[in-house]
Amino acid sequence: MAGDPRRSVALAITGASGAIYAMRTLAALLTRAMAVELVVSDYGRRLLRDELGEAAAVDRLMPYLAETYGPGVGAGSITLHSNRDLGATIASGSHHCGGMVIVPCSMKTLAGVAHGLSRSLAERAADVMLKERRPLVIVPRETPMSLPQLRNMVLCAEAGATILPAMPAFYQQPKTLDDLADFMAGKILGALGLEHDLYPPWIGRVGS
Ligand SMILES: Cc1cc2nc3c(=O)[nH]c(=O)nc-3n(C[C@H](O)[C@H](O)[C@H](O)COP(=O)(O)O)c2cc1C
Repeated sequence: MAGDPRRSVALAITGASGAIYAMRTLAALLTRAMAVELVVSDYGRRLLRDELGEAAAVDRLMPYLAETYGPGVGAGSITLHSNRDLGATIASGSHHCGGMVIVPCSMKTLAGVAHGLSRSLAERAADVMLKERRPLVIVPRETPMSLPQLRNMVLCAEAGATILPAMPAFYQQPKTLDDLADFMAGKILGALGLEHDLYPPWIGRVGS
């Protein structure tokens, strides 16, 4: 169903640590044949290269994802938008984008969403999700957090966003970084209302 607006989701990558979470989430959405409206901030672009290497640069994402997560990512599609283009489709509520995730979400972009600033496409698209009452998942990453940062999360939650901090669990006994990323991506897909099998459900005790 790639290209079908009913199956489209926006994904914004901003300049907070955790590029692997963004890549795992993007790959999971593409494998489910979703049409992904992708926005990457300037610091998000730097993040991809700093944490994952030049192979993960924005203009090489599809080959990187296929190499890392398998050819199944080809079931979906990516439309890359400039973060400066406030006239992009996802800047309007009339565009039928079904939901949005900001992963990872910097404290700067969090503040912009909390206060409805719409300074960038990522912030504007998030604002559209809130006003249209569509799912908005925010994956903040910072530690420790200041009182303004905590308050900004509350503001977003009060406006209807799901605050889903980059806090992977360990009760699934992860062995690799990919296991941790799978857990976070699964949580994000679940919050967007999408089924997944990225981590096994809790069965009441640790282990299989
Ligand atoms: C190496 C590096 C790591 C950073 N990590 C974080 C982080 O984990 N969380 C955060 O909120 N900001 C972090 N920042 C700062 C943001 O990238 C910075 O505030 C930037 O202006 C965010 O802009 P954006 O939201 O448009 O991407 C980091 C910056 C650099 C260079």
